[in-house]
Amino acid sequence: MLRYGNVSVLGVVLFGILIFAADNLSAPLPKAGSVSVNFGFLLASLILYGPATAVIVTAVVVLNIREFAKRVPYYKHIFNAGQYLISMGIASIVFENLYNRDIVNFFYPKNMGIIFLSVLIFFISNTVLTTGAISISERANFINVWIFNFAWLIPSQIFLGVMAVAISFLYRLYGPFTLLFTCLPLVIAQYTYLLRIKERKALLSSILQIVKVVEAKDVYTAGHSVRVAEYSEEIARGMGLNEYDIEILKNLANLHDIGKIQIDLSLLNKRGKLSDSDWKKIKRHPIVGYDIVKEITFLKDKADAVLYHHERIDGSGYPYGKKGGDIPLFAKILCVADSYDAMTTKRPYREALSREQAIFELKRNSGKQFDPVVCETMIEILEKKYQEK
Ligand SMILES: [Fe+2]
Repeated sequence: MLRYGNVSVLGVVLFGILIFAADNLSAPLPKAGSVSVNFGFLLASLILYGPATAVIVTAVVVLNIREFAKRVPYYKHIFNAGQYLISMGIASIVFENLYNRDIVNFFYPKNMGIIFLSVLIFFISNTVLTTGAISISERANFINVWIFNFAWLIPSQIFLGVMAVAISFLYRLYGPFTLLFTCLPLVIAQYTYLLRIKERKALLSSILQIVKVVEAKDVYTAGHSVRVAEYSEEIARGMGLNEYDIEILKNLANLHDIGKIQIDLSLLNKRGKLSDSDWKKIKRHPIVGYDIVKEITFLKDKADAVLYHHERIDGSGYPYGKKGGDIPLFAKILCVADSYDAMTTKRPYREALSREQAIFELKRNSGKQFDPVVCETMIEILEKKYQEK
């Protein structure tokens, strides 16, 4: 017997309040959308009251006031709302058709299997639709976007499924007041995650402010780090790196010259020839930068890209004169991106090179200063851009 028409007012009110609260603690995803525990509550309302109640409660998610307040573009909101409702709708229909409500044993294995099948269906539908939208709008690889944004959510979805079973079981056994105890762990988990994301964002934005201060010391490097980050991202995408690595690389690119904070203003803007001692000071900036970046938890594993961004394939770079295979890939990408931007911007001692001249220099130094594969990728990107204009 399908129960599509039966709506429980109590269910709508209780789960609606819970979802509204959880949604206002939902955390932004690395690239787009947001992650929230509210699916656990939606599933519990589906198990307890059936699809009609669950879909009405889903509408509370869809009418998320916080997103309206943030002035999310209306088409994004309609897309999010639509895909969420569709995903929950499909999961609800499958659930209601297969779940046997006549069985007294709540933990009847087949019914448990149906609950987790519904979790799987919702997760796949929800993430595939969102991934499709992101990969189209950002022209990014579908699989890469999915892995970066959603693969890590699988354990939490299983956890939400288990929590929904526990919430429904206790609710049915002892009544609605049990929600006070069962929903607490979910809301705490949500809040902890939100704090972590906020902390990371705050840390990054304060570091980027420091980068701006460093660049402001030298009139010729204003905006340099941002451009190096853009070029690095393009190269990494062209080389097929995953979205997670691209994000880390972009942050490292923004910070690659942060070691210049230790160099005197007079030296950075010196117009005449640099003395040996001047060069010695300048050549320390990758080491100083590395010491700073390695203290940032989520960047420390790849911080050596900052340390080696002036190393050259033929061993003629600094600070250590490392050769080809000993230089990490991220450092090789930063080196090409950094050099291209340096060549194409005006410096105290020379005019900016044109794009063709810079491409010529990249070709001339491929295999000597630059890694040939990285260099080739950058040249392809630049030539493609040139043709487009
Ligand atoms: Fe540098």
